[in-house]
Amino acid sequence: MKRAGALVLVLIVGVTVPRAAAPTITIDASTAAGTVSPLLYGLMTEEINHSYDGGLYAELIRNRAFLDDAASPAHWTAIQGEGAAAAIALDANQPLNATIATSLRVEVTQASSGHAAGVANEGYWGIPVKPNTRYRASFYAKTAPGVTGPITAAIQSEDGKTTYASGRVSGLTQAWKQYEVTLSTANVTPTAKARFVLTVDRPGTIWLSLVSLFPPTYRNQANGFRPDLLQMLIDMRPKFLRFPGGNYLEGDQIADRFEWKKTLGPLTERPGHMAPWTYRSSDGLGLYEFLLWAEDMNAEPVLAVYAGYSLKGAYVKPGPDLEPYIEDALDEIEYVAGPPTSKWGSLRAKAGHPAPFTLNYVEVGNEDFFDRSRSYDQRFAQFNQAIKARYPSLQVISTVGFEHPENQRVRSVTPDVVDEHYYRTVDAFLKAARGQYDKYDRKGPKIFVGEWGAYETPFEPWNPRSRGEAPTPNLRAALGDAAWMTEMERNADLVIMHGYAPLLVNVSPGARQWRPNLIGYDALRVYGSPSYHAIKLFATRLGNEILKASAADTDVLVSVTRDSRSRTMYVKLVNAGPVAVPVQLDIVGASLRPDGTAITLAGDPQDTNSIDAPDRVVPKTSQLTGVKSGFTYTVPPNGIVVLELGTR
Ligand code: AHR
Repeated sequence: MKRAGALVLVLIVGVTVPRAAAPTITIDASTAAGTVSPLLYGLMTEEINHSYDGGLYAELIRNRAFLDDAASPAHWTAIQGEGAAAAIALDANQPLNATIATSLRVEVTQASSGHAAGVANEGYWGIPVKPNTRYRASFYAKTAPGVTGPITAAIQSEDGKTTYASGRVSGLTQAWKQYEVTLSTANVTPTAKARFVLTVDRPGTIWLSLVSLFPPTYRNQANGFRPDLLQMLIDMRPKFLRFPGGNYLEGDQIADRFEWKKTLGPLTERPGHMAPWTYRSSDGLGLYEFLLWAEDMNAEPVLAVYAGYSLKGAYVKPGPDLEPYIEDALDEIEYVAGPPTSKWGSLRAKAGHPAPFTLNYVEVGNEDFFDRSRSYDQRFAQFNQAIKARYPSLQVISTVGFEHPENQRVRSVTPDVVDEHYYRTVDAFLKAARGQYDKYDRKGPKIFVGEWGAYETPFEPWNPRSRGEAPTPNLRAALGDAAWMTEMERNADLVIMHGYAPLLVNVSPGARQWRPNLIGYDALRVYGSPSYHAIKLFATRLGNEILKASAADTDVLVSVTRDSRSRTMYVKLVNAGPVAVPVQLDIVGASLRPDGTAITLAGDPQDTNSIDAPDRVVPKTSQLTGVKSGFTYTVPPNGIVVLELGTR
């Protein structure tokens, strides 16, 4: 295609040649060229960058069960000072139970009124203090003979000089018991420079386990989610949630996989596990919570089941060795979607959700083409056969190779859907947006682009050298993302689902393992990257019909869809170049209303949003008048535009 910049005023001596016509985009609105998959836009998620612990999962205490580090009580410190002395240590001789097999021993040797001693937790890069807010603190405790408390629970400034909220429990005994206290703040100034403390004002030994502090959660759900973060996701109107990964599904070793059965039930029965992204997961956000999260967003789960391959290369041989893993996956499916009378469905009902969750798609594994044994083909076939035998209507998704996804598929059976992953540079996406899916066999499997994201720099998300860079992408990356979305939308009959990855990043120092990511946050605040705004813009203006659009003589990328109920047409235009490009929109087969709306995300391509400047690159809305077939719209440089056009 020719560059728009080549359109110039041509002057020949004595003769003025008229300005060259704007490039044309012809839209055929007479009939739909295809149906937009109703699940097209969704979310991919896993525990990475403190997405859950220190992120969406609202628990504020870090290392609440004292299992994060076998050697020391990480993230906990003794509180002592003038007139107050205490020592803390892990104690394997005083376990809460077989699951939480260690506790924290707090030996207070000196304390008195006004000189409290005890223990402090630093939280996930601070404890967020908000005004007029009620926090629910709870902990298990037991004491040495003769010690009954009271214990004061408080949220304090880091130096302990300011107490924002506090409460007391007393009557402790030598048996483990859970204590609860509500901590209410007054009209304080928000801060995250705070800690959570448990203190006493007399000497004695206390053991603690499962210390928890929850702020108000989304819809006040117990063991729930951070409302501001979840709202950002709800605002994207995702239609599915792919979980639990990603590499998080697989684990470094087989023993580190996402063992869903160990993530259910009371927190006292969840041991947590070592996750592949360098830290332990509490599994407070377990399988049941994933399902509630999907439901809160009005999205359906896309459940990934462990397929017998882990990241460091261990795999389970297809055949009898794999059978227990297949049974486990079938149990998992029953937990999600089985009747409340079934073995595993009854556990879900007991947890509070008798109605089965809607489940249409199950993915077998994640990026299993990295398995050098090349056993995935057979492993997939074995899973596929067993899942289809028990749940014939379920659509089974297979993973594919990275380099040449169309040629690196399982061969022994044809999967219903294949999951392609694309981490590409902006330029690579701009190229792919010019017809990657044209060559795909329409009779073959449907495509799920289960992970994708544009890079402004070469792809090296885990390279330590990139750690200093912004955790979220800039506008230039969003242009690549938007270009790629036009390709997926134009092919939304074939590409039935897609999700950017990674979704979430705690931007505090040391919290992230990957860049770039879609949504950033710290203990108090949250923001969307330009890519977040681009995806939200596209996902919330979609409709159900694909309209054919052909562009001539322009690099502007386009996709057009329509909502057949409201008869609104959505024209998406992406100009990744540095100059404005006027395009003439020839729309045939529909009578247009004269007014419309343009929503634009544009600016300096290097611009980005951050935790301190969250709204530098955000969409702007303007009204259009004089809309009719053949009208000219000028797409701004470095611009992503959605035109909402009403038709009669
Ligand atoms: O999104 C980050 C990682 O990229 C995922 O865990 C993995 O599936 C992919 O390689």
